[in-house]
Amino acid sequence: MIKILMVCLGNICRSPLAEGILKSKLPNNNFIVDSAGTANYHVGNSPDKRSVAVARKYGLDISNLSGRQFSVADFDTFDYIYVMDASNYNNVIALARDENDKGKVKFILNEIYPNQNYDVPDPYYGGDEGFENVYKMLDEACTTIAKSLL
Ligand code: 4NP
Repeated sequence: MIKILMVCLGNICRSPLAEGILKSKLPNNNFIVDSAGTANYHVGNSPDKRSVAVARKYGLDISNLSGRQFSVADFDTFDYIYVMDASNYNNVIALARDENDKGKVKFILNEIYPNQNYDVPDPYYGGDEGFENVYKMLDEACTTIAKSLL
């Protein structure tokens, strides 16, 4: 079983989308895909309705996902930890216990722009077009991730 965790700040906008998109590109018998937020603001909440809507537009249902906070135990559970931006990266790395933990943490957009450490912009305070833009970036990155794992 290969286990992949998507991480953003609130676990209601970007990482639930990344979770839903990557799940749709992998067979579910050999892979576990999950998501978490570095903050605890939205623990137990459904994804933002704008993320649910853009996912639905592209044929994915992420409405049943529930927000949770990233924890140190996630370093034990997951093989790959994809962060959305530099702030997430710093927050997750700060919890790493050793080099093995740190080595699991990757910027998701480095899958399509190697070594650039680009951010997936936080769409929370913007309009619907921000969610469309995030969806397209994540779809491209997840296509590359799925290809590399299959
Ligand atoms: P996310 O977006 O990290 O992509 O889930 C955010 C969601 C909520 C907040 C910030 C970003 N917030 O400040 O509540």
